[in-house]
Amino acid sequence: MASLFLLIFLLHSLNSTIAAAAGGGGGNISVSDFGAVGNGRRYDTRAIQAAIDACASAGGGRVKFPAGGDYLTGTVFLRSGVVLEVERGARILGGAREEDYPPDSARWYVVLAENATGVGITGGGEINGQSEAFVVRPDPRKNVMVSWNRTGVCLGDECRPRLVGFVDSKEVKVWDITLNQSAYWCLHLVRSNDISIHDIAIYGDFNTPNNDGIDIEDSNNTIITRCHIDTGDDAICPKSSTGPVYNLTATDCWIRTKSSAIKLGSASWFDFRNFLFNNITICESHRGLGMQIRDGGNVSGIVFSNIKVSTRYYDSLWWGRGEPIYITTCPRDSTSKSGFITDILFENISAVSENGVFLSGSKYGFLSNIKFKNVNLTFKRWTRYPGGLYDYRPGCKELVNHSTSGMMMEYIDGLSVENVNMKWFKSKVKGWSFPLEFKGSTVAKLSFHEWNSDVF
Ligand SMILES: *[C@@H]1O[C@H](CO)[C@@H](O)[C@H](O)[C@H]1NC(C)=O
Ligand SMILES: *[C@@H]1O[C@H](CO)[C@@H](O)[C@H](O)[C@H]1NC(C)=O
Ligand SMILES: *[C@@H]1O[C@H](CO)[C@@H](O)[C@H](O)[C@H]1NC(C)=O
Ligand SMILES: *[C@@H]1O[C@H](CO)[C@@H](O)[C@H](O)[C@H]1NC(C)=O
Ligand SMILES: *[C@@H]1O[C@H](CO)[C@@H](O)[C@H](O)[C@H]1NC(C)=O
Ligand SMILES: *[C@@H]1O[C@H](CO)[C@@H](O)[C@H](O)[C@H]1NC(C)=O
Ligand SMILES: *[C@@H]1O[C@H](CO)[C@@H](O)[C@H](O)[C@H]1NC(C)=O
Ligand SMILES: *[C@@H]1O[C@H](CO)[C@@H](O)[C@H](O)[C@H]1NC(C)=O
Ligand SMILES: *[C@@H]1O[C@H](CO)[C@@H](O)[C@H](O)[C@H]1NC(C)=O
Ligand SMILES: *[C@@H]1O[C@H](CO)[C@@H](O)[C@H](O)[C@H]1NC(C)=O
Ligand SMILES: *[C@@H]1O[C@H](CO)[C@@H](O)[C@H](O)[C@H]1NC(C)=O
Repeated sequence: MASLFLLIFLLHSLNSTIAAAAGGGGGNISVSDFGAVGNGRRYDTRAIQAAIDACASAGGGRVKFPAGGDYLTGTVFLRSGVVLEVERGARILGGAREEDYPPDSARWYVVLAENATGVGITGGGEINGQSEAFVVRPDPRKNVMVSWNRTGVCLGDECRPRLVGFVDSKEVKVWDITLNQSAYWCLHLVRSNDISIHDIAIYGDFNTPNNDGIDIEDSNNTIITRCHIDTGDDAICPKSSTGPVYNLTATDCWIRTKSSAIKLGSASWFDFRNFLFNNITICESHRGLGMQIRDGGNVSGIVFSNIKVSTRYYDSLWWGRGEPIYITTCPRDSTSKSGFITDILFENISAVSENGVFLSGSKYGFLSNIKFKNVNLTFKRWTRYPGGLYDYRPGCKELVNHSTSGMMMEYIDGLSVENVNMKWFKSKVKGWSFPLEFKGSTVAKLSFHEWNSDVF
């Protein structure tokens, strides 16, 4: 018994040591002391890296970027126990040349932590990825972007550096910081565990593709709260490529995007389990709450609550057509498996949108135990979007011409609707067909309780 207590005590003090390392160690230093000039023209990469390495050698602590400086840099590597403190009025500026980044495109980040424990970024300042330098041709529909794809390791126009990455890391904390103008994905968490992100702002060019807000890939135990995300592509986007994603909560956030505000997938090879999205405002986005399951991973135990959504159509070059809720699973291509989507709750949701709710399982991957409770859906059109299209991309049936319904349902085994109100603005919903649409042959166990549909 005594040894058990001792063990618990030791574990406890180990935890305290780690917590102390995350910003409270003896190694507090400033990048200026290592020769950083912060004039936005000369590269400070070496000075910043030397400061981080010295801080780590001293047992961890904070590496300060003093206010007033504009610290131009290539990739810098965070080490265990080090927290970057970018002071309010200071800016880390990511380089825009290919040689600023490591040869392996998987490591193209401005700030990158690999196999690090007790690491973070804070300070009130800004990290800027200079996305404007990656635009080949500005286009209000969708910018044409630089592609560093010469080696052929990455494809298409997605060969651009990300802003901040934590890979194979633990006890990650990002708070009180602005992540601005990422050229590609902004904050990327990969195979990491125990992640806290709070009080952050992410800004991306609205016309730039793939500048996602937060991508949570193959990572567990992530808590996101008080975030403000205004960007072109998906804002909060869990993905599973080499392992599952467990335990994710995102609360008290504001989001605007030209793509999906919240989207599970499309990389979905493993499971997504136990997520909570609560108290979120989604403003004028292409899609609101979405699941794009394509690779055989299963989804279960997801709650969306207390969410206000407004969705609208922007442009056919972007996925989505103004769907407030878009839950789909289908095999990406003929070699893909089907994933199941089970135990999903939508409670206290109100949406104003240009398109209907789309709930689409597939023959070998049904949607089951889906519940809508206290949901208000208002349908009208205020852009020139003509409607009449279901967007299954990526893969599957791609685009299908089909009149729009309030709630389109296919391949469902168990859906309960309780206190759901649909409101239609008659003069503004041309081309719509039914409030509810489903084929009896693909849908079972539907239950409607206090469901209303009114035309105004
Ligand atoms: C290092 O900075 C942190 C955060 O500002 C502070 O809590 C800690 O006391 C500092 N440590 C030293 C040794 O100055
Ligand atoms: C982290 O360490 C493990 C074990 O050494 C290694 O397999 C993995 O590639 C490392 N991750 C990164 C991003 O370097
Ligand atoms: C590289 O990107 C350019 C521009 O997007 C594209 O035309 C070309 O096909 C790409 N090449 C490869 C190998 O992806
Ligand atoms: C983000 O970057 C843009 C362009 O570099 C700049 O104009 C803007 O002020 C920055 N925003 C914040 C909040 O730092
Ligand atoms: C997340 O948890 C699952 C289930 O326990 C595990 O298989 C996976 O390796 C974990 N991932 C990480 C990055 O810890
Ligand atoms: C998920 O959270 C639950 C409850 O806190 C915990 O018991 C479980 O271990 C977590 N899963 C992983 C993979 O860490
Ligand atoms: C909901 O989130 C907003 C921030 O977006 C916050 O101001 C508000 O207090 C939160 N509401 C509750 C009930 O927590
Ligand atoms: C998803 O669930 C099905 C049915 O239970 C199972 O056969 C399949 O292996 C699961 N997929 C993954 C990636 O675990
Ligand atoms: C839905 O609308 C009704 C009537 O206007 C309102 O009482 C209720 O609070 C709304 N529910 C939500 C979740 O917004
Ligand atoms: C939904 O709203 C009702 C009424 O405001 C409240 O009682 C309930 O707790 C809310 N549900 C959730 C999951 O927050
Ligand atoms: C949908 O209809 C439009 C015109 O009505 C047509 O141009 C387009 O090819 C059709 N798309 C598909 C996928 O059938």
